[in-house]
Amino acid sequence: MARILITSAIPYINGIKHLGNLVGSQLPADLFARYMRGRGHEVMFICATDEHGTPAELAAAKAKQPVAEYCTQMHEVQADLARGFRLSFDHFGRSSSARNHRLTQHFAGKLDEAGLIREVTEKQFYSVDDGRFLPDRYIEGTCPNCGFTSARGDQCDNCTKQLDPTDLIDPHSTISGSTKLELRETKHLYLRQSALKDRIEAWIDSKADWPILTTSIAKKWLHDGDGLQDRGITRDLHWGIPVKKGDQPWPGMEGKVFYVWFDAPIEYIAGTAEWADANGRPDADWERWWRTDKGAEDVTYYQFMGKDNVPFHTLSFPATILGSAEPWKLVDYLKSFNYLNYDGGQFSTSRGRGVFMDQALSILPSDYWRWWLLSHAPESSDSEFTWENFQVSVNKDLADVLGNLVSRVTKFARSKFGETVPAGGSYGPMEEALIADLGARVRDYERLMDAIEVRKAAAELRAIWVAGNEYLQASAPWTVVKTDPEQAQAQIRLGLNLIRLYAVLSRPFIPDAAEAMMAALGCDDWSWPSDMPAAMRHLAPGAGFSVPENLFRKITDEERSDWQARFAGIRS
Ligand code: 2FM
Ligand code: ZN
Repeated sequence: MARILITSAIPYINGIKHLGNLVGSQLPADLFARYMRGRGHEVMFICATDEHGTPAELAAAKAKQPVAEYCTQMHEVQADLARGFRLSFDHFGRSSSARNHRLTQHFAGKLDEAGLIREVTEKQFYSVDDGRFLPDRYIEGTCPNCGFTSARGDQCDNCTKQLDPTDLIDPHSTISGSTKLELRETKHLYLRQSALKDRIEAWIDSKADWPILTTSIAKKWLHDGDGLQDRGITRDLHWGIPVKKGDQPWPGMEGKVFYVWFDAPIEYIAGTAEWADANGRPDADWERWWRTDKGAEDVTYYQFMGKDNVPFHTLSFPATILGSAEPWKLVDYLKSFNYLNYDGGQFSTSRGRGVFMDQALSILPSDYWRWWLLSHAPESSDSEFTWENFQVSVNKDLADVLGNLVSRVTKFARSKFGETVPAGGSYGPMEEALIADLGARVRDYERLMDAIEVRKAAAELRAIWVAGNEYLQASAPWTVVKTDPEQAQAQIRLGLNLIRLYAVLSRPFIPDAAEAMMAALGCDDWSWPSDMPAAMRHLAPGAGFSVPENLFRKITDEERSDWQARFAGIRS
Protein backbone atom coordinates (compact mmCIF):
# COMPACT_ATOMS: atom_id res chain seq x y z
CA MET A 1 0.00 0.00 0.00
CA ALA A 2 1.43 3.34 -1.06
CA ARG A 3 0.83 6.72 0.55
CA ILE A 4 -0.54 9.29 -1.84
CA LEU A 5 -0.82 12.99 -1.03
CA ILE A 6 -3.04 14.95 -3.40
CA THR A 7 -3.74 18.68 -3.47
CA SER A 8 -5.96 20.67 -5.77
CA ALA A 9 -5.25 24.35 -6.44
CA ILE A 10 -7.34 26.18 -3.89
CA PRO A 11 -10.20 28.23 -5.35
CA TYR A 12 -10.47 31.92 -4.58
CA ILE A 13 -13.11 32.65 -1.97
CA ASN A 14 -14.98 35.31 -3.91
CA GLY A 15 -17.77 33.87 -5.95
CA ILE A 16 -18.91 30.53 -7.20
CA LYS A 17 -16.62 28.73 -9.62
CA HIS A 18 -17.60 27.79 -13.17
CA LEU A 19 -17.18 24.38 -14.75
CA GLY A 20 -13.93 25.44 -16.40
CA ASN A 21 -12.42 26.10 -12.97
CA LEU A 22 -13.76 22.80 -11.69
CA VAL A 23 -12.27 20.66 -14.46
CA GLY A 24 -8.90 22.41 -14.19
CA SER A 25 -8.06 21.21 -10.71
CA GLN A 26 -10.61 20.02 -8.15
CA LEU A 27 -12.44 17.49 -10.31
CA PRO A 28 -9.45 15.64 -11.80
CA ALA A 29 -7.81 15.68 -8.37
CA ASP A 30 -10.92 14.02 -6.99
CA LEU A 31 -10.88 11.45 -9.80
CA PHE A 32 -7.33 10.55 -8.92
CA ALA A 33 -7.99 10.46 -5.17
CA ARG A 34 -10.94 8.15 -5.65
CA TYR A 35 -8.98 5.92 -8.00
CA MET A 36 -6.04 5.64 -5.61
CA ARG A 37 -8.37 4.82 -2.72
CA GLY A 38 -10.06 2.24 -4.95
CA ARG A 39 -6.67 0.63 -5.54
CA GLY A 40 -6.30 0.30 -1.79
CA HIS A 41 -3.76 3.06 -1.19
CA GLU A 42 -3.69 5.44 1.75
CA VAL A 43 -4.75 8.83 0.40
CA MET A 44 -4.71 12.33 1.84
CA PHE A 45 -6.66 14.71 -0.40
CA ILE A 46 -6.59 18.39 0.56
CA CYS A 47 -8.24 21.47 -0.84
CA ALA A 48 -9.23 24.80 0.71
CA THR A 49 -10.52 28.25 -0.07
CA ASP A 50 -7.97 30.92 -0.99
CA GLU A 51 -9.25 33.74 1.17
CA HIS A 52 -6.77 36.59 1.19
CA GLY A 53 -6.05 39.41 -1.16
CA THR A 54 -8.03 42.27 -2.55
CA PRO A 55 -10.64 40.26 -4.51
CA ALA A 56 -11.97 39.03 -1.18
CA GLU A 57 -11.85 42.51 0.34
CA LEU A 58 -13.68 44.07 -2.57
CA ALA A 59 -16.28 41.31 -2.82
CA ALA A 60 -16.99 41.67 0.90
CA ALA A 61 -17.32 45.43 0.54
CA LYS A 62 -19.74 44.92 -2.32
CA ALA A 63 -21.75 42.48 -0.19
CA LYS A 64 -21.62 45.05 2.67
CA GLN A 65 -20.13 42.48 5.00
CA PRO A 66 -16.99 42.43 7.12
CA VAL A 67 -14.43 40.48 5.12
CA ALA A 68 -13.96 37.73 7.71
CA GLU A 69 -17.70 37.15 7.86
CA TYR A 70 -17.96 37.16 4.07
CA CYS A 71 -15.21 34.54 3.84
CA THR A 72 -16.84 32.31 6.42
CA GLN A 73 -20.09 32.43 4.54
CA MET A 74 -18.55 31.88 1.10
CA HIS A 75 -16.45 29.05 2.41
CA GLU A 76 -19.66 27.27 3.42
CA VAL A 77 -21.19 27.94 0.01
CA GLN A 78 -18.16 26.46 -1.73
CA ALA A 79 -17.95 23.51 0.65
CA ASP A 80 -21.59 22.77 -0.05
CA LEU A 81 -21.04 22.81 -3.81
CA ALA A 82 -17.99 20.60 -3.39
CA ARG A 83 -20.19 18.10 -1.58
CA GLY A 84 -22.74 18.45 -4.38
CA PHE A 85 -20.10 17.48 -6.93
CA ARG A 86 -18.98 14.66 -4.61
CA LEU A 87 -15.47 16.06 -4.25
CA SER A 88 -14.03 13.69 -1.70
CA PHE A 89 -11.60 15.97 0.13
CA ASP A 90 -10.22 14.62 3.35
CA HIS A 91 -10.32 18.23 4.38
CA PHE A 92 -11.53 21.43 2.78
CA GLY A 93 -9.59 24.04 4.68
CA ARG A 94 -9.28 27.81 4.74
CA SER A 95 -6.16 29.80 3.98
CA SER A 96 -7.25 32.24 6.69
CA SER A 97 -6.98 29.53 9.35
CA ALA A 98 -4.85 29.98 12.46
CA ARG A 99 -2.75 27.07 11.20
CA ASN A 100 -1.94 28.91 8.00
CA HIS A 101 -1.15 32.12 9.85
CA ARG A 102 1.38 30.28 12.01
CA LEU A 103 2.90 28.24 9.23
CA THR A 104 3.21 31.16 6.80
CA GLN A 105 4.91 33.28 9.48
CA HIS A 106 7.11 30.29 10.29
CA PHE A 107 8.26 29.93 6.67
CA ALA A 108 8.97 33.65 6.42
CA GLY A 109 11.09 33.43 9.58
CA LYS A 110 13.04 30.45 8.24
CA LEU A 111 13.63 32.15 4.88
CA ASP A 112 14.92 35.18 6.73
CA GLU A 113 17.25 33.04 8.86
CA ALA A 114 18.59 31.53 5.65
CA GLY A 115 19.39 35.01 4.35
CA LEU A 116 16.83 34.75 1.58
CA ILE A 117 14.73 37.77 2.45
CA ARG A 118 15.69 41.28 1.59
CA GLU A 119 13.87 44.45 2.53
CA VAL A 120 13.17 46.75 -0.33
CA THR A 121 11.92 50.27 -0.16
CA GLU A 122 10.04 50.77 -3.34
CA LYS A 123 7.61 52.98 -5.01
CA GLN A 124 4.19 51.56 -5.39
CA PHE A 125 1.05 52.72 -7.05
CA TYR A 126 -1.30 54.56 -4.75
CA SER A 127 -4.64 55.33 -6.29
CA VAL A 128 -5.70 58.78 -5.18
CA ASP A 129 -9.31 58.22 -6.23
CA ASP A 130 -9.55 54.82 -4.53
CA GLY A 131 -7.70 56.05 -1.44
CA ARG A 132 -5.46 53.02 -1.23
CA PHE A 133 -2.36 51.33 -2.47
CA LEU A 134 -3.43 49.23 -5.43
CA PRO A 135 -2.62 45.57 -5.36
CA ASP A 136 -1.02 44.21 -8.48
CA ARG A 137 -4.05 42.68 -10.08
CA TYR A 138 -6.07 45.88 -9.74
CA ILE A 139 -3.78 47.67 -12.05
CA GLU A 140 -4.09 46.89 -15.70
CA GLY A 141 -2.07 48.00 -18.64
CA THR A 142 -0.11 46.74 -21.60
CA CYS A 143 2.16 43.71 -21.14
CA PRO A 144 5.80 44.61 -21.82
CA ASN A 145 6.44 41.04 -22.90
CA CYS A 146 3.71 40.40 -25.47
CA GLY A 147 1.84 43.67 -25.92
CA PHE A 148 -1.49 42.35 -24.58
CA THR A 149 -3.45 45.44 -23.59
CA SER A 150 -5.33 44.02 -20.58
CA ALA A 151 -2.42 42.53 -18.70
CA ARG A 152 -2.84 42.51 -14.93
CA GLY A 153 -0.15 43.82 -12.64
CA ASP A 154 0.65 40.37 -11.25
CA GLN A 155 0.55 38.26 -14.37
CA CYS A 156 -0.26 38.51 -18.04
CA ASP A 157 -3.15 36.23 -18.94
CA ASN A 158 -2.04 36.18 -22.53
CA CYS A 159 1.57 35.02 -22.19
CA THR A 160 1.42 33.92 -18.47
CA LYS A 161 4.47 36.03 -17.56
CA GLN A 162 4.58 36.98 -13.90
CA LEU A 163 4.71 40.74 -13.74
CA ASP A 164 5.20 43.64 -11.41
CA PRO A 165 2.69 46.46 -11.86
CA THR A 166 5.48 48.93 -12.58
CA ASP A 167 6.32 46.82 -15.64
CA LEU A 168 2.98 47.72 -17.21
CA ILE A 169 2.71 50.30 -19.94
CA ASP A 170 -0.14 52.87 -19.43
CA PRO A 171 -1.40 51.54 -16.07
CA HIS A 172 -4.83 52.34 -14.61
CA SER A 173 -6.92 51.28 -11.59
CA THR A 174 -9.45 48.58 -12.40
CA ILE A 175 -11.46 49.47 -9.30
CA SER A 176 -12.30 52.99 -10.41
CA GLY A 177 -10.72 53.14 -13.85
CA SER A 178 -8.73 56.09 -12.59
CA THR A 179 -5.33 56.86 -14.06
CA LYS A 180 -4.59 59.16 -11.14
CA LEU A 181 -1.96 56.82 -9.77
CA GLU A 182 0.94 58.05 -7.69
CA LEU A 183 4.07 56.12 -7.01
CA ARG A 184 4.52 56.32 -3.25
CA GLU A 185 7.26 54.89 -1.11
CA THR A 186 6.61 51.74 0.90
CA LYS A 187 8.78 48.97 2.32
CA HIS A 188 8.36 45.33 1.32
CA LEU A 189 9.98 41.95 1.78
CA TYR A 190 11.40 40.16 -1.22
CA LEU A 191 12.14 36.47 -1.45
CA ARG A 192 15.51 36.02 -3.13
CA GLN A 193 14.34 33.43 -5.63
CA SER A 194 17.33 34.23 -7.86
CA ALA A 195 19.62 32.73 -5.21
CA LEU A 196 17.69 29.46 -5.53
CA LYS A 197 17.61 29.32 -9.30
CA ASP A 198 20.16 26.54 -9.74
CA ARG A 199 18.51 24.30 -7.17
CA ILE A 200 15.06 24.86 -8.64
CA GLU A 201 16.32 24.24 -12.13
CA ALA A 202 18.05 21.01 -11.14
CA TRP A 203 14.90 19.91 -9.40
CA ILE A 204 12.72 20.60 -12.46
CA ASP A 205 15.26 18.90 -14.71
CA SER A 206 14.94 15.78 -12.57
CA LYS A 207 11.22 15.55 -13.45
CA ALA A 208 11.49 13.84 -16.81
CA ASP A 209 8.06 12.25 -16.45
CA TRP A 210 6.09 15.48 -15.90
CA PRO A 211 3.53 16.57 -18.48
CA ILE A 212 5.10 18.75 -21.16
CA LEU A 213 2.57 21.47 -20.37
CA THR A 214 4.01 21.68 -16.85
CA THR A 215 7.73 21.59 -17.63
CA SER A 216 7.49 23.86 -20.65
CA ILE A 217 5.86 26.62 -18.58
CA ALA A 218 8.36 26.14 -15.76
CA LYS A 219 11.36 26.23 -18.06
CA LYS A 220 10.05 29.22 -19.92
CA TRP A 221 10.03 31.26 -16.71
CA LEU A 222 13.39 29.95 -15.60
CA HIS A 223 15.11 30.96 -18.80
CA ASP A 224 13.15 33.70 -20.52
CA GLY A 225 14.03 37.31 -20.00
CA ASP A 226 16.08 37.83 -16.88
CA GLY A 227 15.28 34.38 -15.52
CA LEU A 228 13.97 33.75 -12.05
CA GLN A 229 13.25 37.08 -10.39
CA ASP A 230 13.19 37.94 -6.71
CA ARG A 231 9.60 38.25 -5.63
CA GLY A 232 7.76 40.63 -3.32
CA ILE A 233 5.97 38.59 -0.66
CA THR A 234 4.25 41.37 1.31
CA ARG A 235 1.46 43.83 0.60
CA ASP A 236 -0.07 47.00 2.01
CA LEU A 237 -3.48 45.54 2.87
CA HIS A 238 -5.51 45.02 6.00
CA TRP A 239 -6.88 41.58 5.24
CA GLY A 240 -4.32 38.81 5.23
CA ILE A 241 -1.65 37.19 7.36
CA PRO A 242 0.27 39.82 9.35
CA VAL A 243 3.95 39.97 8.50
CA LYS A 244 5.92 38.36 11.30
CA LYS A 245 9.16 36.44 11.71
CA GLY A 246 7.85 33.25 13.20
CA ASP A 247 5.97 34.51 16.26
CA GLN A 248 8.12 37.64 16.54
CA PRO A 249 7.24 41.08 15.18
CA TRP A 250 9.04 42.17 12.02
CA PRO A 251 10.35 45.67 12.67
CA GLY A 252 9.27 48.11 10.04
CA MET A 253 6.62 45.82 8.62
CA GLU A 254 3.82 46.68 11.01
CA GLY A 255 0.39 46.84 9.43
CA LYS A 256 1.42 44.84 6.37
CA VAL A 257 0.36 41.36 5.33
CA PHE A 258 1.89 38.56 3.29
CA TYR A 259 1.04 38.41 -0.38
CA VAL A 260 -1.82 36.02 -1.06
CA TRP A 261 0.30 33.92 -3.42
CA PHE A 262 2.88 33.47 -0.64
CA ASP A 263 0.41 32.05 1.86
CA ALA A 264 -1.93 30.14 -0.52
CA PRO A 265 0.28 27.13 -1.33
CA ILE A 266 1.40 26.94 2.30
CA GLU A 267 -2.28 26.23 2.99
CA TYR A 268 -1.80 22.80 1.40
CA ILE A 269 0.30 21.97 4.44
CA ALA A 270 -1.78 24.01 6.88
CA GLY A 271 -4.94 22.38 5.50
CA THR A 272 -3.56 18.99 6.41
CA ALA A 273 -2.87 20.29 9.90
CA GLU A 274 -6.46 21.57 10.00
CA TRP A 275 -7.56 18.04 9.05
CA ALA A 276 -5.66 16.69 12.05
CA ASP A 277 -7.17 19.33 14.34
CA ALA A 278 -10.68 18.67 13.04
CA ASN A 279 -10.26 14.95 13.72
CA GLY A 280 -8.65 15.28 17.13
CA ARG A 281 -5.35 13.90 15.91
CA PRO A 282 -1.85 14.83 17.04
CA ASP A 283 0.60 16.83 14.91
CA ALA A 284 2.50 13.66 14.05
CA ASP A 285 -0.50 12.55 11.97
CA TRP A 286 -0.26 15.43 9.52
CA GLU A 287 3.49 15.76 9.71
CA ARG A 288 3.89 12.22 8.40
CA TRP A 289 2.45 13.54 5.10
CA TRP A 290 4.69 16.57 4.85
CA ARG A 291 7.91 16.22 6.82
CA THR A 292 10.45 13.89 5.31
CA ASP A 293 12.07 13.64 8.75
CA LYS A 294 8.76 12.46 10.19
CA GLY A 295 7.58 9.75 7.82
CA ALA A 296 6.87 11.57 4.54
CA GLU A 297 9.86 10.12 2.71
CA ASP A 298 7.60 7.37 1.36
CA VAL A 299 4.76 9.71 0.36
CA THR A 300 4.16 10.45 -3.32
CA TYR A 301 2.78 13.96 -3.72
CA TYR A 302 0.59 14.98 -6.69
CA GLN A 303 -0.61 18.51 -7.40
CA PHE A 304 -3.47 19.45 -9.76
CA MET A 305 -3.98 22.90 -11.30
CA GLY A 306 -4.78 25.00 -14.33
CA LYS A 307 -1.85 26.14 -16.46
CA ASP A 308 -1.98 29.70 -15.14
CA ASN A 309 -1.01 28.35 -11.71
CA VAL A 310 2.07 26.46 -12.91
CA PRO A 311 4.72 29.19 -12.39
CA PHE A 312 3.68 29.63 -8.76
CA HIS A 313 3.93 25.89 -8.12
CA THR A 314 7.09 25.12 -10.06
CA LEU A 315 9.08 28.19 -9.02
CA SER A 316 7.64 30.28 -6.17
CA PHE A 317 6.34 27.60 -3.81
CA PRO A 318 9.40 25.35 -4.29
CA ALA A 319 11.51 28.42 -3.54
CA THR A 320 9.68 28.76 -0.21
CA ILE A 321 10.13 25.07 0.58
CA LEU A 322 13.75 24.72 -0.53
CA GLY A 323 14.71 28.07 0.94
CA SER A 324 13.35 27.16 4.37
CA ALA A 325 16.13 24.54 4.65
CA GLU A 326 13.65 22.36 6.50
CA PRO A 327 12.69 18.87 5.38
CA TRP A 328 9.30 19.61 3.81
CA LYS A 329 7.92 17.47 1.02
CA LEU A 330 8.19 18.84 -2.52
CA VAL A 331 5.70 17.88 -5.20
CA ASP A 332 6.53 14.65 -7.05
CA TYR A 333 4.11 15.03 -9.96
CA LEU A 334 2.44 18.19 -11.15
CA LYS A 335 -0.58 17.68 -13.39
CA SER A 336 -1.67 20.84 -15.16
CA PHE A 337 -4.58 21.55 -17.47
CA ASN A 338 -5.33 23.83 -20.36
CA TYR A 339 -8.53 25.86 -20.44
CA LEU A 340 -12.07 24.75 -21.05
CA ASN A 341 -13.94 27.13 -23.32
CA TYR A 342 -17.68 27.62 -23.37
CA ASP A 343 -19.86 27.42 -26.45
CA GLY A 344 -17.78 29.39 -28.91
CA GLY A 345 -16.08 31.68 -26.40
CA GLN A 346 -14.58 31.70 -22.94
CA PHE A 347 -16.10 31.00 -19.58
CA SER A 348 -16.11 34.33 -17.79
CA THR A 349 -16.72 34.90 -14.12
CA SER A 350 -16.83 38.66 -14.47
CA ARG A 351 -19.31 38.49 -17.33
CA GLY A 352 -21.22 35.54 -15.89
CA ARG A 353 -20.75 33.55 -19.08
CA GLY A 354 -21.01 29.78 -18.95
CA VAL A 355 -22.32 27.31 -16.42
CA PHE A 356 -21.42 27.79 -12.76
CA MET A 357 -21.27 25.01 -10.22
CA ASP A 358 -24.56 25.86 -8.50
CA GLN A 359 -26.41 26.23 -11.80
CA ALA A 360 -25.07 22.92 -13.10
CA LEU A 361 -26.37 21.05 -10.07
CA SER A 362 -29.72 22.78 -10.32
CA ILE A 363 -30.38 21.19 -13.72
CA LEU A 364 -28.74 17.76 -13.57
CA PRO A 365 -27.09 15.49 -10.99
CA SER A 366 -23.33 15.72 -10.56
CA ASP A 367 -22.47 12.46 -12.35
CA TYR A 368 -23.66 13.86 -15.69
CA TRP A 369 -21.30 16.80 -15.33
CA ARG A 370 -18.44 14.78 -13.92
CA TRP A 371 -18.59 12.38 -16.84
CA TRP A 372 -18.66 15.03 -19.53
CA LEU A 373 -16.03 17.23 -17.92
CA LEU A 374 -13.57 14.45 -17.20
CA SER A 375 -14.04 12.68 -20.54
CA HIS A 376 -13.36 16.03 -22.25
CA ALA A 377 -10.69 17.33 -19.88
CA PRO A 378 -8.49 19.99 -21.52
CA GLU A 379 -5.25 18.05 -21.38
CA SER A 380 -3.28 18.23 -24.61
CA SER A 381 -5.03 21.42 -25.69
CA ASP A 382 -7.88 23.69 -24.68
CA SER A 383 -11.28 22.03 -25.09
CA GLU A 384 -14.77 23.35 -25.48
CA PHE A 385 -18.09 22.74 -23.80
CA THR A 386 -21.03 22.75 -26.17
CA TRP A 387 -24.55 21.74 -25.29
CA GLU A 388 -24.76 19.49 -28.35
CA ASN A 389 -21.68 17.60 -27.32
CA PHE A 390 -22.89 17.38 -23.73
CA GLN A 391 -26.23 15.96 -24.86
CA VAL A 392 -24.63 13.37 -27.15
CA SER A 393 -22.12 12.31 -24.54
CA VAL A 394 -24.71 11.90 -21.77
CA ASN A 395 -27.29 10.20 -23.97
CA LYS A 396 -24.87 7.81 -25.62
CA ASP A 397 -22.23 6.97 -23.05
CA LEU A 398 -24.27 7.16 -19.87
CA ALA A 399 -27.83 6.35 -20.92
CA ASP A 400 -27.44 4.09 -23.98
CA VAL A 401 -24.30 2.22 -23.05
CA LEU A 402 -23.95 2.00 -19.28
CA GLY A 403 -27.49 2.72 -18.05
CA ASN A 404 -29.04 0.46 -20.63
CA LEU A 405 -26.80 -2.48 -19.78
CA VAL A 406 -27.63 -2.22 -16.11
CA SER A 407 -31.34 -1.98 -16.69
CA ARG A 408 -31.49 -4.71 -19.35
CA VAL A 409 -29.55 -7.24 -17.34
CA THR A 410 -31.37 -6.69 -14.05
CA LYS A 411 -34.85 -6.53 -15.61
CA PHE A 412 -34.32 -9.61 -17.73
CA ALA A 413 -32.85 -11.54 -14.79
CA ARG A 414 -35.78 -10.62 -12.58
CA SER A 415 -38.38 -11.57 -15.15
CA LYS A 416 -36.87 -14.96 -15.99
CA PHE A 417 -35.09 -16.12 -12.86
CA GLY A 418 -36.36 -13.95 -10.00
CA GLU A 419 -34.40 -11.49 -7.89
CA THR A 420 -31.41 -13.69 -7.08
CA VAL A 421 -28.18 -14.31 -8.95
CA PRO A 422 -28.97 -17.34 -11.15
CA ALA A 423 -26.85 -20.43 -10.41
CA GLY A 424 -27.23 -22.53 -13.56
CA GLY A 425 -24.78 -23.30 -16.36
CA SER A 426 -21.16 -22.33 -16.61
CA TYR A 427 -19.09 -19.86 -18.60
CA GLY A 428 -18.21 -21.03 -22.14
CA PRO A 429 -15.77 -19.75 -24.79
CA MET A 430 -17.63 -16.49 -25.40
CA GLU A 431 -17.62 -15.64 -21.71
CA GLU A 432 -13.96 -16.59 -21.33
CA ALA A 433 -13.08 -14.45 -24.34
CA LEU A 434 -14.88 -11.48 -22.78
CA ILE A 435 -13.11 -12.07 -19.47
CA ALA A 436 -9.72 -12.10 -21.21
CA ASP A 437 -10.58 -8.94 -23.14
CA LEU A 438 -11.76 -7.17 -19.99
CA GLY A 439 -8.62 -8.25 -18.13
CA ALA A 440 -6.42 -6.63 -20.77
CA ARG A 441 -8.56 -3.51 -20.92
CA VAL A 442 -8.56 -3.03 -17.17
CA ARG A 443 -4.74 -3.21 -17.14
CA ASP A 444 -4.79 -0.49 -19.77
CA TYR A 445 -7.26 1.56 -17.74
CA GLU A 446 -4.98 1.25 -14.70
CA ARG A 447 -1.96 2.35 -16.71
CA LEU A 448 -3.83 5.44 -17.93
CA MET A 449 -5.23 6.30 -14.51
CA ASP A 450 -1.81 5.85 -12.89
CA ALA A 451 -0.43 8.27 -15.48
CA ILE A 452 -3.38 10.69 -14.93
CA GLU A 453 -4.26 10.55 -18.62
CA VAL A 454 -7.81 11.59 -17.82
CA ARG A 455 -9.39 11.64 -21.27
CA LYS A 456 -7.75 8.44 -22.40
CA ALA A 457 -8.76 6.71 -19.18
CA ALA A 458 -12.37 7.83 -19.74
CA ALA A 459 -12.22 6.47 -23.30
CA GLU A 460 -10.93 3.13 -22.02
CA LEU A 461 -13.66 2.99 -19.41
CA ARG A 462 -16.26 3.67 -22.08
CA ALA A 463 -14.70 0.87 -24.19
CA ILE A 464 -15.02 -1.45 -21.20
CA TRP A 465 -18.74 -0.61 -20.96
CA VAL A 466 -19.12 -1.14 -24.71
CA ALA A 467 -17.41 -4.54 -24.54
CA GLY A 468 -20.06 -5.73 -22.08
CA ASN A 469 -22.86 -4.44 -24.27
CA GLU A 470 -21.41 -6.15 -27.31
CA TYR A 471 -21.13 -9.40 -25.42
CA LEU A 472 -24.80 -9.23 -24.43
CA GLN A 473 -25.79 -8.36 -27.96
CA ALA A 474 -23.83 -11.29 -29.37
CA SER A 475 -24.70 -13.86 -26.71
CA ALA A 476 -28.40 -12.81 -26.64
CA PRO A 477 -29.58 -14.45 -23.41
CA TRP A 478 -33.16 -13.37 -24.25
CA THR A 479 -33.05 -15.78 -27.22
CA VAL A 480 -30.91 -18.45 -25.60
CA VAL A 481 -33.30 -18.68 -22.64
CA LYS A 482 -35.90 -20.25 -24.91
CA THR A 483 -33.69 -23.20 -25.89
CA ASP A 484 -31.01 -23.42 -23.18
CA PRO A 485 -32.12 -21.75 -19.92
CA GLU A 486 -29.03 -23.03 -18.05
CA GLN A 487 -26.76 -21.26 -20.51
CA ALA A 488 -28.88 -18.11 -20.24
CA GLN A 489 -28.45 -18.24 -16.46
CA ALA A 490 -24.66 -18.29 -16.84
CA GLN A 491 -24.84 -15.39 -19.29
CA ILE A 492 -26.94 -13.34 -16.91
CA ARG A 493 -24.73 -14.23 -13.96
CA LEU A 494 -21.88 -12.80 -15.98
CA GLY A 495 -24.01 -9.75 -16.74
CA LEU A 496 -24.65 -9.13 -13.04
CA ASN A 497 -20.94 -9.50 -12.31
CA LEU A 498 -20.28 -7.01 -15.08
CA ILE A 499 -22.43 -4.50 -13.21
CA ARG A 500 -20.28 -4.90 -10.14
CA LEU A 501 -17.12 -4.58 -12.22
CA TYR A 502 -18.47 -1.38 -13.76
CA ALA A 503 -19.41 0.03 -10.39
CA VAL A 504 -15.86 -0.45 -9.09
CA LEU A 505 -14.13 0.86 -12.22
CA SER A 506 -16.51 3.77 -12.80
CA ARG A 507 -16.68 5.02 -9.23
CA PRO A 508 -13.90 7.63 -9.65
CA PHE A 509 -15.83 9.18 -12.54
CA ILE A 510 -19.49 8.73 -11.53
CA PRO A 511 -19.61 7.90 -7.83
CA ASP A 512 -23.38 8.18 -7.34
CA ALA A 513 -24.25 5.84 -10.21
CA ALA A 514 -21.56 3.43 -9.01
CA GLU A 515 -23.13 3.36 -5.57
CA ALA A 516 -26.59 2.82 -6.99
CA MET A 517 -25.28 -0.11 -9.04
CA MET A 518 -23.55 -1.66 -6.08
CA ALA A 519 -26.60 -1.14 -3.87
CA ALA A 520 -28.81 -2.88 -6.45
CA LEU A 521 -26.50 -5.88 -6.23
CA GLY A 522 -26.77 -5.85 -2.46
CA CYS A 523 -23.01 -5.77 -2.45
CA ASP A 524 -20.54 -3.60 -0.57
CA ASP A 525 -17.31 -5.16 -1.70
CA TRP A 526 -15.43 -2.57 -3.75
CA SER A 527 -12.24 -4.60 -4.07
CA TRP A 528 -10.34 -3.82 -7.24
CA PRO A 529 -10.59 -6.42 -10.07
CA SER A 530 -6.94 -7.42 -10.13
CA ASP A 531 -7.95 -10.97 -11.06
CA MET A 532 -10.58 -10.74 -13.80
CA PRO A 533 -11.68 -14.41 -13.84
CA ALA A 534 -12.30 -14.15 -10.08
CA ALA A 535 -14.00 -10.75 -10.40
CA MET A 536 -16.44 -12.19 -12.92
CA ARG A 537 -17.39 -14.87 -10.37
CA HIS A 538 -17.63 -12.49 -7.44
CA LEU A 539 -21.40 -12.55 -6.84
CA ALA A 540 -22.53 -15.69 -5.05
CA PRO A 541 -25.21 -17.62 -6.96
CA GLY A 542 -28.45 -17.27 -5.01
CA ALA A 543 -27.56 -13.84 -3.58
CA GLY A 544 -30.33 -11.26 -3.89
CA PHE A 545 -30.33 -8.21 -6.13
CA SER A 546 -32.87 -5.60 -7.18
CA VAL A 547 -33.60 -3.59 -10.28
CA PRO A 548 -32.27 -0.05 -9.72
CA GLU A 549 -34.05 3.12 -10.73
CA ASN A 550 -32.99 4.25 -14.17
CA LEU A 551 -29.37 5.32 -13.66
CA PHE A 552 -29.37 8.07 -16.28
CA ARG A 553 -32.05 9.89 -18.18
CA LYS A 554 -31.61 11.35 -21.61
CA ILE A 555 -31.36 15.05 -22.33
CA THR A 556 -34.08 16.12 -24.75
CA ASP A 557 -33.52 18.49 -27.66
CA GLU A 558 -35.85 20.93 -26.01
CA GLU A 559 -33.88 20.98 -22.77
CA ARG A 560 -30.68 21.40 -24.71
CA SER A 561 -31.83 24.50 -26.53
CA ASP A 562 -33.44 25.85 -23.38
CA TRP A 563 -30.23 25.58 -21.41
CA GLN A 564 -28.18 26.92 -24.26
CA ALA A 565 -30.27 30.09 -24.24
CA ARG A 566 -30.40 30.32 -20.47
CA PHE A 567 -26.64 30.16 -19.94
CA ALA A 568 -25.55 32.29 -22.86
CA GLY A 569 -25.55 35.62 -21.11
CA ILE A 570 -25.31 37.42 -17.87
CA ARG A 571 -25.60 35.50 -14.67
CA SER A 572 -28.22 37.11 -12.48
O1 2FM B 1 -5.87 30.53 -9.41
C1 2FM B 1 -6.48 30.34 -8.36
O2 2FM B 1 -7.67 30.03 -8.35
C2 2FM B 1 -5.72 30.39 -7.06
N1 2FM B 1 -6.65 30.66 -5.97
C3 2FM B 1 -4.99 29.10 -6.84
C4 2FM B 1 -4.13 29.03 -5.65
S1 2FM B 1 -3.38 27.51 -5.62
C5 2FM B 1 -2.30 27.52 -4.36
F1 2FM B 1 -1.39 28.32 -4.42
F2 2FM B 1 -2.80 27.31 -3.25
ZN1 ZN C 1 1.99 39.13 -21.96
